[in-house]
Amino acid sequence: MATPCAPTDPVDAAFYKPADEFFAQNGSLGLTYDDVTLATLYSEILPREANLDTSLAEGLLLRIPIVSADMDTVTESRMAIAMALNGGLGLIHYNMTEREQLSEVSRVKNHVHGLIQEPIKVGPEQTIGEVIQRVEDKRFSFSTFPVVDERNQLIGLLPGHVLKQRYAARKVSEAMTPRAQLQTIHQSDLGSDPIARADRFFTESIGIHKLLVVDDEDRLCGLFTLSDVERIAQERQAQFKPARDSRFRLVCGAAVSATRNSTGDLDKDRIRAHVGALVERGVDMVAVSTAHGFSKGVGETVRAIRETFPELPILAGNVTSAEGVEYLADCGANAIKIGQGPGSICTTRIVAGVGIPQLTALYVASRAARRRGVRIVADGGIVKSGDIVKALTLSDAVICGGMLAGCPEAPGQILEIDGKLYKQYRGMGSLAAMQAGSAARYGHAVKDTSRKIAAEGIEALKEASGPTDLVLTQMAGGIQSGMGYLGAANLEQLRQKARFIRVSPAGIRESAPHDIIELKAGLGTK
Ligand code: XMP
Repeated sequence: MATPCAPTDPVDAAFYKPADEFFAQNGSLGLTYDDVTLATLYSEILPREANLDTSLAEGLLLRIPIVSADMDTVTESRMAIAMALNGGLGLIHYNMTEREQLSEVSRVKNHVHGLIQEPIKVGPEQTIGEVIQRVEDKRFSFSTFPVVDERNQLIGLLPGHVLKQRYAARKVSEAMTPRAQLQTIHQSDLGSDPIARADRFFTESIGIHKLLVVDDEDRLCGLFTLSDVERIAQERQAQFKPARDSRFRLVCGAAVSATRNSTGDLDKDRIRAHVGALVERGVDMVAVSTAHGFSKGVGETVRAIRETFPELPILAGNVTSAEGVEYLADCGANAIKIGQGPGSICTTRIVAGVGIPQLTALYVASRAARRRGVRIVADGGIVKSGDIVKALTLSDAVICGGMLAGCPEAPGQILEIDGKLYKQYRGMGSLAAMQAGSAARYGHAVKDTSRKIAAEGIEALKEASGPTDLVLTQMAGGIQSGMGYLGAANLEQLRQKARFIRVSPAGIRESAPHDIIELKAGLGTK
């Protein structure tokens, strides 16, 4: 009987091969995304019906199979929040102190969509002129401010229409709407769906555009605005739901390193203590991230975490061999990162002469993962949504760095060069990033970074892009499109149905726009 991936027509079967046959035939050649293309199949699946749910460990469900890289120019809390709101997962990098990383994770886990948790406030003794100056200096796009005393107790609301130069010398206390006339809500009354609650408030309270949240002692602890709530209510119609934990909080991952003490030994106590603190804050997955995951240090780190936290989802890597996958699975990882050198800022293959083109690495790893019942995540080298479709024929999710580094939610300032806008993007193995703290990840002690060492990544710029929402929508749309062509209703079917063929250099050229003058590069093209 025909398997789901075997074409029934003998001519098709001679050309378009399922993974096992295709990679066996190309056994001596390292292949990556552009080296292959996928053959279409009869389909009854409309792209928008394709389901992108994936799971990286028991209880960790994502609504899109995309993870943002644990890099210091990609994922801090803002990016992790945007990823989870769109159904994916952000991995907070570790180029910061352990304390800072804990508060980044807390920001994601405590994020209430639409609730501004630390609103900009003013004091009653300030003058209107000072407030106007602040709005101009900081370029605030809003002009209504809660007024609080030194204990953060709410004493009024300064409406935007009084911010006029003619009142510049007057005090905020003279111009504000006093506390007694303000409508507020106690934080405990927000319930499990704060947006729905705020939405109801705005409907019931004609003309009020701000809802202030207070605690037992009338201290200000948040602010909803009508425009945010309306935007979110619209977004709720979106196809991909946010990725949440069992307590309805956004999911969040964090990278941990194989930290060593001053004598060079693995500092297991410190690693356990930090992971324990992350767990207390609600982290959903820790990523033991190194360039060489098939190593004693990584294995022992994973083992130490697994022994202490039997239920915690662990992602570990990076490896590119079946043995590497089995080793990390035996140590207790739930999911394994695959990729050595494919990243857009990586120079591992040039510097060290090692690494495997990504699609072959994924195939090799996927067979071991299947045997061991662990997930694999394709890490690095994704530059267009078609690459993600190809990666997902062999893996459970992808990790993106460069595709997200230009988004406003990625850390770092926008730079303007010759009228174009850019953001910094650098490898975690670049000299600058290692000096900033990632030395352990690439096998150098921190003190070593001051002397000459071989960096395995570069510092670069990415063109500033639209918001993460938009980039992820494009990527998810591309994945669904690929699934539609293969008649795959979900990612499991995509893995079963994929059939591959090699592409010649002329075929690669044919695949991208050609013989035209391109006016505007789309996201899906390169
Ligand atoms: P992309 O292609 O999405 O790749 O930009 C992101 C992934 O690249 C890896 N990474 C590095 N690899 N040297 C390397 O060899 C580095 O300096 C470096 N920094 C990041 C990492 O796996 C990331 O997810």
